[in-house]
Amino acid sequence: MPTATAELPEIPRHIAIIMDGNGRWAKERGLPRLEGHRAGAESVREVMEACIERGVEYLTLYAFSSENWSRPVTEVKALMSLLDRFLDEKAKDLDRQNVRLLAIGQLDRLPEKTRALIERIQARTAHHTAMTLVLALSYGGREEIVSAARSLATDAVAGKISASDIDGDLFASRLQTAGIPDPDLLVRTSGEMRISNFLLWQISYAEIIIVKKFWPDFRQGDLFEAVQEYQRRHRRFGAL
Ligand code: IPE
Ligand code: IPE
Ligand code: MG
Repeated sequence: MPTATAELPEIPRHIAIIMDGNGRWAKERGLPRLEGHRAGAESVREVMEACIERGVEYLTLYAFSSENWSRPVTEVKALMSLLDRFLDEKAKDLDRQNVRLLAIGQLDRLPEKTRALIERIQARTAHHTAMTLVLALSYGGREEIVSAARSLATDAVAGKISASDIDGDLFASRLQTAGIPDPDLLVRTSGEMRISNFLLWQISYAEIIIVKKFWPDFRQGDLFEAVQEYQRRHRRFGAL
């Protein structure tokens, strides 16, 4: 008996987002930059809900880059305390939504309190299955690649592997995203057309969508639109 094969356009398994434009959003309104970051937290909530609703399996959010440490101390502090509050409030939602939390980046550079909070939530949500939320914190793609190379070199020097064992799969297994499929869709808000050191290895074949809106204005409907645009794309992966 023929099975129903209605061609449903594919939902991206993994969406990665460069959440940019909080400061400009605030500036446009004559508000301090912090207000933009605060409003951006609401966008995170909506986008997460939208992703869960559409059956997206992984959502990676670029929340703080390695380079963001060079911002004024007051801004860094404000961002860290906003992150603490977000994590604190989010912990219950993650249970309700059955979402697993992971964090990637140089977490040892984060304040002790923030790190402890992340570890606690990670452990508590480890068994959740609806979606995985990956927070990129103090994250830099180059740093991640260098660290993978260092770990392979260490193993090679110790005689645990030989140079010829190193291939793409082995390399990827040493990245912090080991076990996570590469992003299918990369969204950046605020109209900037750059990658800013985000997931350099992992986005090699991601579909890229640049949205003009600032992150605090990017809400559920915008995520749905991005998914629709993704579904109209034809991914070729170098083949014909
Ligand atoms: C994104 O907004 C949030 C972080 C990078 C932490 P920005 O703070 O970069 O806002 P703009 O780009 O200055 O408007
Ligand atoms: C990228 O935004 C990092 C995050 C969104 C966390 P930035 O605002 O830091 O990037 P640039 O400076 O415009 O490249
Ligand atoms: Mg920015």
